[in-house]
Amino acid sequence: MLFAFIIGFVSQSEPNEAYIHFVGVHPQYRKQGLARKLYTTFMDTVRRKGCQLVRCITSPVNKTSILFHTRMGFEIEPGDDTIAGLPVHRDYDGVGVDRVLFVKRLH
Ligand SMILES: CC(C)(COP(=O)(O)OP(=O)(O)OC[C@H]1O[C@@H](n2cnc3c(N)ncnc32)[C@H](O)[C@@H]1OP(=O)(O)O)[C@@H](O)C(=O)NCCC(=O)NCCS
Repeated sequence: MLFAFIIGFVSQSEPNEAYIHFVGVHPQYRKQGLARKLYTTFMDTVRRKGCQLVRCITSPVNKTSILFHTRMGFEIEPGDDTIAGLPVHRDYDGVGVDRVLFVKRLH
């Protein structure tokens, strides 16, 4: 059975940057540190490959994801608009598909 997964990669165009495309944890196994473990392992791996920062995006309605990424030390990048006080990039993933952009610098 699959409990949790992460999909991420080192950018081909910006080799000092990595991107996390998606993370998911089985609903019955959330809030036990699984996603933190996956993120930590991913960030350690790409840091060793020379990456200096990690980016990811999420939907402004995904409050769990926003809370999770904030707890993981990600910062929200300035947007071109705000939704419920959150900086968003309008139409980032297509027309009408707004996104919150996160970045975390690796030390
Ligand atoms: C977001 C998600 C991956 C978090 O997974 P998780 O294994 O429950 O997260 P963890 O237990 O590792 O939590 C890591 C931190 O985030 C916080 N956190 C996680 N879920 C939270 C929630 N619902 N509300 C508030 N904080 C939350 C934890 O408190 C923890 O903080 P701490 O370690 O500083 O105490 C999971 O809820 C999920 O799969 N959601 C559906 C898919 C999704 O939205 N993915 C993200 C978009 S790409």
